[in-house]
Amino acid sequence: MTDRPYLIFPETVQRDLTHYLRNTFVDESPEQKQINIDAARQSLPEISLRPEEGWLLYFLVKLARVKIGVEIGTLAGYSASWIARALPDDGKLICLEVDSHHASIANNNMKRLGFADKVEIMVGDARDTLDGMDGHFDMVFIDADKTSYPYYLDWALNHLRSGGLLLAHNAFQNGLIVENPENVEEQQRDSTRAMQEFNKRVAEDERLTSIIMPVGDGLLAAIMD
Ligand SMILES: C[S@@+](CC[C@H](N)C(=O)[O-])C[C@H]1O[C@@H](n2cnc3c(N)ncnc32)[C@H](O)[C@@H]1O
Repeated sequence: MTDRPYLIFPETVQRDLTHYLRNTFVDESPEQKQINIDAARQSLPEISLRPEEGWLLYFLVKLARVKIGVEIGTLAGYSASWIARALPDDGKLICLEVDSHHASIANNNMKRLGFADKVEIMVGDARDTLDGMDGHFDMVFIDADKTSYPYYLDWALNHLRSGGLLLAHNAFQNGLIVENPENVEEQQRDSTRAMQEFNKRVAEDERLTSIIMPVGDGLLAAIMD
């Protein structure tokens, strides 16, 4: 069978399709929108999920009926707000964030959105925090330092329950994922190598059934056997 190429859309069409997707399907609440508006005013980096990525996260967490999950990399709590919205009333999300300023803003946002009972934010390097965490989880969502994704994968493989969901943001790494790391700017080289290793290990792991959903910068999703 021939390898039928996808249509390559020019940038303007891609932008129009993204707006169509966002405007037609994504039910972002005004309070969620406000998280990113406030974060920009507080000079936080504009690196949270896009609304359609948040919606996809919400959709998957709901679909998998997640009750207890872990988020690695929280910033101001935008993605956490999508996960918390999808959890049942007695659900729980443990968020790991290295920056205490980000964590404090996220904490306030979770209170403002009525998710304080569901969301716990733990401050510290996620590698250290994870080392002290036991038990099995329904979902692990990774959206922190790219060079640590392989480390977070090892942890997730040991702590996801059977049927549990692994999710990871920036699986396309703004397109760099298909580049030879040698040809990538030096400051992006290690993260490109780490993301390529992460995706490859997920794809080849016999315990996982996986895909990258091409929404935004690519949301990797995998189910644990
Ligand atoms: C891309 S932002 C997260 C965005 C968030 N998931 C959202 O969509 O709203 C990455 C966050 O990970 C945090 N981070 C980076 N390295 C970390 C580490 N080693 N442990 C915990 N958090 C880390 C950063 O401080 C930053 O707040």
